[in-house]
Amino acid sequence: MHGLTTLLLVFLAGQAEAFRICAFNAHRLTLAKVTKEQVKNTLVQIVARCDIMVLQEVVDTSNKTISFLLQELKRKFDSSRCYSFLNSSQLGRSTYKEKYVYIYRSDKTQVLNFYQYEDKDDLFAREPFVAQFTLPSKILSSVVLVPLHTTPKDVENELNALHAVFLDATRRWQSKDVILLGDFNADCGSLAKKRLSTLLLRTEEGFRWAIADGEDTTVRASTNCTYDRIVLHGEACRGLVRTALAFNFPQSFQLSEEEALDVSDHYPVEVELDQAPNSMQPPSLATLLLLSLLLPILAPHWSPVA
Ligand SMILES: *[C@@H]1O[C@H](CO)[C@@H](O)[C@H](O)[C@H]1NC(C)=O
Ligand SMILES: *[C@@H]1O[C@H](CO)[C@@H](O)[C@H](O)[C@H]1NC(C)=O
Ligand SMILES: *[C@@H]1O[C@H](CO)[C@@H](O)[C@H](O)[C@H]1NC(C)=O
Repeated sequence: MHGLTTLLLVFLAGQAEAFRICAFNAHRLTLAKVTKEQVKNTLVQIVARCDIMVLQEVVDTSNKTISFLLQELKRKFDSSRCYSFLNSSQLGRSTYKEKYVYIYRSDKTQVLNFYQYEDKDDLFAREPFVAQFTLPSKILSSVVLVPLHTTPKDVENELNALHAVFLDATRRWQSKDVILLGDFNADCGSLAKKRLSTLLLRTEEGFRWAIADGEDTTVRASTNCTYDRIVLHGEACRGLVRTALAFNFPQSFQLSEEEALDVSDHYPVEVELDQAPNSMQPPSLATLLLLSLLLPILAPHWSPVA
């Protein structure tokens, strides 16, 4: 029986392992900011939750902010994890510029491809920096990530243009499994509810908005807006979604609002992908067989009709 219990635990542990993809508007992330002790500690914990983290608003003229963060992650996890990063160039229409930066677990995933979307008509303040990553899943071997941090002044146009970026990426890499994510500013004063429902990413079939309308992605108690979003496309990709949420880091790490705001005014948003299709599917034959074998042993007095 000992052997069987172990088998069951190993089996369940295998089932339980998910792959977490996150996006975080890290609010003007500079070297000066990330080297502050408390900011550093919080940021490292936030990034460490994710297999792939897409940071936005990295305002990094020194080019040292991300290497500092990686060094801290390496210090924390020593040799038990490997981290790498992929950054865009500095993007922006004025002298104010920011980068998109992917920080990812290179022991679990790899970058297959990436490109900077060519924004010929200047539709975006910060055009998406698109990347394709491998997934440790038998169902889906890779996924395309399309990050966007919109400017609050032009949310509707940028989000409609994002659909064109989606089409561009799917054509380029012949892949329908795409995750669009980031601080879309898709709520409150920046995008009326009525306009939200007319977006191409809402009216076209096949997109799943995993962070639901009404979910608060902002730190301030005085605001309640669903600015940050994760939108999934592709049957395989959508089928793997286990959970999606805005991570309330002030609550989890017991920070005051003021302490949290030193890190960001946004929550990270996160989606967990299963390695196998999610619980919408009936349990596999193997699971049922294993349970039917084990139940009488583990719970000899249990009977379904009692
Ligand atoms: C940071 O990198 C950019 C792009 O490669 C470069 O133009 C800039 O001079 C670098 N800044 C410093 C301080 O090295
Ligand atoms: C990433 O940043 C470095 C330095 O800031 C820069 O030299 C490099 O070109 C960037 N990568 C991309 C893909 O733009
Ligand atoms: C934010 O507003 C939604 C309704 O739009 C509500 O369901 C939710 O509980 C609110 N969240 C917070 C943290 O106040």
